[in-house]
Amino acid sequence: MSETHDRVEIIGQDSPEHRFSSRSIRSFVLRQGRMSGAQQRYLDEMLPRIGLPYRVEPMDLDAVFGRHGPKIFEIGFGMGETTAKIAAARPDHDFLGIEVHGPGVGALCKLVAENGLSNIRIMQHDAVEVLRDMIPDGALAGVHVFFPDPWRKARHQKRRIIQPDFLALVASKLAPGGYLHCATDWEDYAHWMLEVLAAEPALENTADGFAPRPEYRPLTKFENRGLKLGHGVWDLVFRRRT
Ligand SMILES: C[S@@+](CC[C@H](N)C(=O)[O-])C[C@H]1O[C@@H](n2cnc3c(N)ncnc32)[C@H](O)[C@@H]1O
Repeated sequence: MSETHDRVEIIGQDSPEHRFSSRSIRSFVLRQGRMSGAQQRYLDEMLPRIGLPYRVEPMDLDAVFGRHGPKIFEIGFGMGETTAKIAAARPDHDFLGIEVHGPGVGALCKLVAENGLSNIRIMQHDAVEVLRDMIPDGALAGVHVFFPDPWRKARHQKRRIIQPDFLALVASKLAPGGYLHCATDWEDYAHWMLEVLAAEPALENTADGFAPRPEYRPLTKFENRGLKLGHGVWDLVFRRRT
């Protein structure tokens, strides 16, 4: 079954074009990805329980998670390993993970089921639209953007998600004191992030430049391999000014 077909089934919208229509430059390209049988099974089982549909309407996040508590918004969770580990280690926080790639959504559904995690909700949609249309201002305790696509070629850099407009949007959704944590293994993008983040007046750096990796962000297998080969990883943690 194609990813496109999966998405239509999951969310019940008419077409991918309908779902991803309102921004012209996007930070992702929809890849045709095959779901494994297990991903599809867990997706079918879990998404009715933990998946949320995209709507142009603010959500009541406490109602969504069934409790009052800090809410973390993750953009582009990939296959969800980091999301699941952080959610397990921080049971007092609620995590709303957003990803456009179908097999990744299936993979995180599987991790949620296998680990009995009750503090994760998932959306398969453009995270920028979700943030803009569904998250009330000041509602988030944190935003995670881990290893966003680096869009290495100069002519593609307009697709990088970390841009001035995006950061102004993130800042408006963070509660005062709330944090934005970005990580990348692409040096050029790390410096781009630092420059754009430092220029956003509503945010302040928690470190002098790049931050040490916060303990809650686990090292991924991919990252570990890169570090052993001498490649760098850069974390940036900024807070919304109070
Ligand atoms: C390089 S991967 C990193 C995945 C994961 N964060 C990790 O650390 O392994 C970037 C992911 O972000 C997703 N993505 C990019 N832009 C997005 C957007 N606007 N909304 C939702 N997902 C997005 C892509 O589909 C991709 O899976």
